[in-house]
Amino acid sequence: MESFNYSIVNYQSNEWIMPPYFTQEVLENLYKKFTIRNEDTFIVSYPKSGTHWVKQILYILVHGKSSQKEIIENSIPFLDVEAANVGLFGLEHLEKISSRRYFHSHLPLALMPSILNGKAKYIYIARNPKDCAVSYYHFARQYQRMNFQGTWDEFFTLYMNGKIQYGSIFDHVVTWWKRSQTGNDILFIKYEDMHKNLSTVVEKIANFLNVPLTPNLLKTICTQSQFHNMKENDKVNGQWITGLENTSLLRKGKIGDWQNHFNEEQNKIFDSIYQQKMVSQSLTFDFN
Ligand code: A3P
Repeated sequence: MESFNYSIVNYQSNEWIMPPYFTQEVLENLYKKFTIRNEDTFIVSYPKSGTHWVKQILYILVHGKSSQKEIIENSIPFLDVEAANVGLFGLEHLEKISSRRYFHSHLPLALMPSILNGKAKYIYIARNPKDCAVSYYHFARQYQRMNFQGTWDEFFTLYMNGKIQYGSIFDHVVTWWKRSQTGNDILFIKYEDMHKNLSTVVEKIANFLNVPLTPNLLKTICTQSQFHNMKENDKVNGQWITGLENTSLLRKGKIGDWQNHFNEEQNKIFDSIYQQKMVSQSLTFDFN
């Protein structure tokens, strides 16, 4: 595998700002070499929306218990880095998997291969974009390979202008949201709903994937995907990710941390764009 340099602002694919390793060539390779199959399942999200929480749920749903030995990434690889050959396996290996396949990805709808072929299933996890901003900011500062050394105010401006990896959260979430309303191959779920009623969301996921869910399994999932249980489990909390050794994907795991970061002016700017881009599309979030 090649080594790569991460930075917060870099390669641009049409209107999407992508990680530096995700070049046009990688995208073309993905389209050429990766064939989506019936029953392939993708967890898709804008970064810091609770992707690993859904991965943990999916893992337990499929394996019956939380991962103790293998890292969760083995079972649910990150497609974007695999496409670029900077992940654990590479695309050729993914093509050789004979059992049902599970992936996660941050690709915007416009770049996702074969989204319209109706074969695969997509679970899109979205989070209120204020808390997402705060989570992304801390991650960008702590994750050595992102190496962001700016202030919260600087980050806020980049975030609101979509000048960070995977572009504007508003565009990312809204395009997936609108597409989810037109077919039955995308299950759109919200981080805040998982906080407030996890078992209902787990039931929706199991139904969507046609995976049997016994009361026992539901209980196991709800227990083993609690914040503190995931944080203590180094097979799920992301410490295998190079550059993340001294920190964790699980920081606070709360709704409403934005109130410790946004000033009045930022809140006003945010609310106006949120109204324009999300509320106008009937997409709303709980911020508390
Ligand atoms: P915070 O930085 O606000 O704590 P992703 O997996 O997409 O990178 O998202 C990471 C965010 O999801 C982090 O948010 C993390 O704490 C939160 N998260 C992960 N697992 C969680 C859980 N079991 N309960 C609540 N939040 C969780």
